Amino acid sequence: MKHIFQKGKDHNKPTLLLLHGTGGDESNLLPIAEIIDKEASVLSVRGNVLENGMPRYFKRLAEGVFDEEDLIFRTKELNEFLNQAAQKYEFNRNNMIAIGYSNGANIAASLLFHYQDALKGAILHHPMVPRRGIDLPDLSGKSVFIAAGTNDPICPPEESEELQTLLEGANAKVEIHWENRGHQLTLEEVEAASKWYSRL
Ligand code: MLT
Repeated sequence: MKHIFQKGKDHNKPTLLLLHGTGGDESNLLPIAEIIDKEASVLSVRGNVLENGMPRYFKRLAEGVFDEEDLIFRTKELNEFLNQAAQKYEFNRNNMIAIGYSNGANIAASLLFHYQDALKGAILHHPMVPRRGIDLPDLSGKSVFIAAGTNDPICPPEESEELQTLLEGANAKVEIHWENRGHQLTLEEVEAASKWYSRL
């Protein structure tokens, strides 16, 4: 997958996996990684799917309606890419924290829903519930920060709470932070994520 890898100064820090929103690319979230942890390695990956020229991580049938088969396939593809990248760049595969926005947060949530050891934790900006009606792996020891919008037109607050409940039901530790600026990724929520990260 097309990506940027930046080796960090401190090997004991997690590797930050950056996952952009629809129409973004691997350069978008680099300034956020800088705010979260200047010393961590960064792996920023571009989604492999194109929707009218806009990169995404999986296909959708309509806004908010996911192509489940493609979601499952792309989640596996990303997880395998992360395994290969860990070998190539020699980072600890078991110490990876995703930072995703919108479609990127949705594929990060899907990694958590499908693979027990894909991520150590995740910062999810405006995520949705990636799939319903499946058993999640045991996510004991995983920490998740959700930044959600009280007036997010793409992900209503009930869905953010549903995601929290599903992850907590699988034993993940989840913190939810509320903003009221729709689906926007705000500096305030990045700062809240940064505080959460510093307590890990
Ligand atoms: C998605 O398709 O993942 C969500 O609708 C968010 C987005 O607009 O990318």
